[in-house]
Amino acid sequence: MATNRTFTMIKPDAFSAGNSGAILKMIEEAGFKIIAMKATQLTPATAGKFYEVHKERPFYADLCAYMSSGPIIAAILEKENAVEDFRKLIGATNPADAAEGTIRKIFAKSIEANAVHGSDSDENAAIEGNFYFSQIERIG
Ligand code: CMP
Repeated sequence: MATNRTFTMIKPDAFSAGNSGAILKMIEEAGFKIIAMKATQLTPATAGKFYEVHKERPFYADLCAYMSSGPIIAAILEKENAVEDFRKLIGATNPADAAEGTIRKIFAKSIEANAVHGSDSDENAAIEGNFYFSQIERIG
């Protein structure tokens, strides 16, 4: 079922470079509403769990080390056609292949340090959002 939600992470390279604000501005200007958001840092074990689907890939160990190397921002985003539109906004996984004007073309450093994550399906958007947010928190 289409949920109109997707999940993103601003990865350690973009966070440490001070690009989180500029990336969030692009996301909001593209019409995405931030439903939940937090800054956090993964352990190698939690990074491994999040990316478990890639565990047989040759880049898995490096990816887990990289994703736990510094703070990130995790967020649930809402917009009509969210998964597909967000993948267009961020561009191809490898910034060398990403279209001009996309977040990865502007901010990514390499195929691994590629600035942002975006869910690849509605099903994974829900799984990945639930990985970070057990409920949408409200204070007071
Ligand atoms: P992401 O969209 O978060 O999903 C898997 C991540 O693995 C990807 O972005 C990259 O950060 C990382 N990665 C590293 N090397 C590769 C590769 N050769 N192919 C795909 N993803 C890679």
